[in-house]
Amino acid sequence: MKKIIVTGKGGVGKTTVIATLARLLAREDNKVLVVDCDPSMNLAMTLGVPLSAVMPIAEERANIHEELETSMDDGHEEIEGLIDEIIDDYIIETDDGVKLIVMGTIPYGGSGCLCSSIALLKLLIGYIRSEEHDFVMIDSQAGVEIFGRGLASEFDFSLVVTEPMPKAIEVARHILKLSKDLGVKRQIVIVNKVEDDTDYAGISRQLGCSEVYPVRYDHRVIEADKKGVLILDYVPQAPVVDDVKRIKEEITGV
Ligand SMILES: Nc1ncnc2c1ncn2[C@@H]1O[C@H](COP(=O)(O)OP(=O)(O)OP(=O)(O)O)[C@@H](O)[C@H]1O
Ligand SMILES: [Mg+2]
Repeated sequence: MKKIIVTGKGGVGKTTVIATLARLLAREDNKVLVVDCDPSMNLAMTLGVPLSAVMPIAEERANIHEELETSMDDGHEEIEGLIDEIIDDYIIETDDGVKLIVMGTIPYGGSGCLCSSIALLKLLIGYIRSEEHDFVMIDSQAGVEIFGRGLASEFDFSLVVTEPMPKAIEVARHILKLSKDLGVKRQIVIVNKVEDDTDYAGISRQLGCSEVYPVRYDHRVIEADKKGVLILDYVPQAPVVDDVKRIKEEITGV
């Protein structure tokens, strides 16, 4: 089982990339679980799941953090049981076999703090049964909070998505350093929305990362988004899909 975290500045294309990647992997008979950790919960729609079918754990199990604390006191098997139960109860299977879990915003101590959602995520990916999933992919909120609470070392890959814009590149540089320092095994940068005149080599140099992959800008990605479908269904032959396939090959080691 490979665990992958996708991060980057807001709006750079994290959800588009992860949804396309997940579906490409599932088409090749991989068992793929994606976890939406972004409070705005866009991943379901991007995967073609209507919002009415989404069951955010935070809303369905409002006292989840108390359950977690109790199970932690009760030991390993209790946590494993709770995690199994959560996965069984809240997995949504999409048409092409990708499995989805939506975290929602889990309030902690009466506030909307994300800490307990990160704590739950840490348990979820730490205790998930590795034989049941080939890939577990996490779509995170923009920024670096997701690396808090010792979560980073759980991951095999950190996919850092950026646009060819200075602010997004600066965020990517920061995330890359954090994810490296905190122990993610392998860092891959995805420069999304690349155009013909993009100084791609310059971005690679700036980020000091040897594994940098481009995904081309294509207005049809936005058109597809507006229609509520993925580019993969809208224009299956689009070059942008080939770019994501290239990244998939890197992750699967093909
Ligand atoms: N390669 C691309 N070419 C053109 N537009 C793209 C491309 N990739 C993503 N987009 C568009 O960029 C916008 C943001 O994409 P997306 O929602 O995937 O980003 P995000 O990083 O997940 O955003 P957020 O931080 O809000 O979660 C969407 O309108 C999407 O259609
Ligand atoms: Mg997103």
